[in-house]
Amino acid sequence: MSTAISPTAYNYKVVRQFAIMTVVWGILGMGLGVFIASQLVWPELNFGLPWTTFGRLRPLHTNLVIFAFGGCALFATSYYVVQRTCQTRLISDSLAAFTFWGWQAVIVSAIVTLPLGYTTTKEYAELEWPIAILLAIVWVTYAVVFFGTIVKRKTKHIYVGNWFYGAFILVTAMLHIVNHASLPVNLFKSYSAYAGATDAMIQWWYGHNAVGFFLTTGFLGMMYYFVPKQAERPIYSYRLSIVHFWALITLYIWAGPHHLHYTALPDWAQSLGMAMSIILLAPSWGGMINGMMTLSGAWHKLRTDPILRFLVVSLAFYGMSTFEGPMMAIKTVNSLSHYTDWTIGHVHAGALGWVAMISIGALYHMIPKLFGRAQMHSVGLINTHFWLATIGTVLYIASMWVNGITQGLMWRAINDDGTLTYSFVEALQASHPGYIVRALGGTFFAAGMLFMAYNVWRTVRASDPAEAEAAAKIAVVGAH
Ligand code: HEM
Ligand code: HEM
Repeated sequence: MSTAISPTAYNYKVVRQFAIMTVVWGILGMGLGVFIASQLVWPELNFGLPWTTFGRLRPLHTNLVIFAFGGCALFATSYYVVQRTCQTRLISDSLAAFTFWGWQAVIVSAIVTLPLGYTTTKEYAELEWPIAILLAIVWVTYAVVFFGTIVKRKTKHIYVGNWFYGAFILVTAMLHIVNHASLPVNLFKSYSAYAGATDAMIQWWYGHNAVGFFLTTGFLGMMYYFVPKQAERPIYSYRLSIVHFWALITLYIWAGPHHLHYTALPDWAQSLGMAMSIILLAPSWGGMINGMMTLSGAWHKLRTDPILRFLVVSLAFYGMSTFEGPMMAIKTVNSLSHYTDWTIGHVHAGALGWVAMISIGALYHMIPKLFGRAQMHSVGLINTHFWLATIGTVLYIASMWVNGITQGLMWRAINDDGTLTYSFVEALQASHPGYIVRALGGTFFAAGMLFMAYNVWRTVRASDPAEAEAAAKIAVVGAH
């Protein structure tokens, strides 16, 4: 096989833009996380203003970390991976640019409208209808760019990472459009097209699959490309990756009712959701094992490579949260964990440990390549970041486990005469130390992002435009 440099180049511009914005939104979203975590320690930080209350800033936090930080990481890596594995440029530069600017417009609209109190009130789908329509248009364009690029690929196979990205793009479109069906009453207010238990079921079908397809499947696409690349080893088992893919997407879609245990949802639907969630452990761990075992023979690299550490530790947290999730889906366990900080701990084991850490690892791998540099400005700073992120995540989730179980047990404790042993305020007081530890853990994690921003800035500043241009050239393997 001969390797020749083709005259054409990858579209790295849009990848660079999304990559940089991932860091920017990460800092803002996580900074806001630290702020709302601090409000739960010192309520005075609400400032007595409607715009800065916990209730309004919390959805802004979730939108910024999931859709702005996570979303930009997914756009950046999927555009990078699809081009490199298909050995071709994105089908359209202008459509790709539209997805970048359109996505940033959605985020800025969220930053303006959520603190003002404009919300549909559906969790993770809070953005009012005009913004939701813009989001749908951007997303459909994204699908056109991604799948169009796959269609004009120069390679025979579609690499498995693209299967995961593809499923994430298709299912997110479906969820968003179905759950957002609503009746607008004015520019800033709409009502859901569904009512009662149906509305709840559709909302959590959406909510759970936002976790399953946005926060999991897309990031698994990332895992299948960046773990083998950084470890310089082929993926452990291609066959397992195919089984993993089909099992994961078939099962995830049924698990939504575990968010509605002991509600007006029909009992059979709750039991079905519980059973499917337990079975979901198998493909989740299949994927984790596939990623981990890719390091066979390369474990020693962990000693010197902090980027690989980010990727591997993210898989460990993925394994942990996908073990915890099925346990929490069991109705009797859920009767203890639901409404408590245990859920919040589970969320952030997935969000910080898995989603954020794999994204950070992928960015550290990708950014020097995008800007024509051999490596990041400082490997030492990546290592500092790694420890801040790991310690921060552990402090966050450990404090929330302690709080969650304390709250669950205190709320259900009953005296012999049937009265409650503890008042709600007593459980709140018992939670206070945990909130301090969580805010500290969050500060560690967010501080790590500042180190990242500095490191990225120095790497980009050292980049020479000609080098960056040369890096984008498509090296075609074989004759075409
Ligand atoms: C510095 C890092 C972070 C801190 C300090 C933080 C803090 C918080 C706090 C205080 C809440 C509200 C908890 C409550 O209502 O009791 C929250 C909710 C949430 N955060 Fe974070 N967060 C951080 C990073 C992230 C990241 C990176 C993600 C996603 C990728 C994320 C996703 C979420 C979600 C989904 C919720 C809502 C959970 C639920 O409703 O059960 N967070 N966060
Ligand atoms: C096999 C995999 C998983 C299962 C079966 C699962 C199951 C669960 C269960 C039972 C709950 C609590 C529902 C409640 O009591 O309200 C929950 C909440 C949640 N999980 Fe998972 N989980 C899994 C993996 C993950 C991962 C990997 C992430 C993040 C990346 C994640 C993010 C969330 C979020 C954001 C919530 C809070 C939703 C809300 O109430 O706002 N989960 N999950």
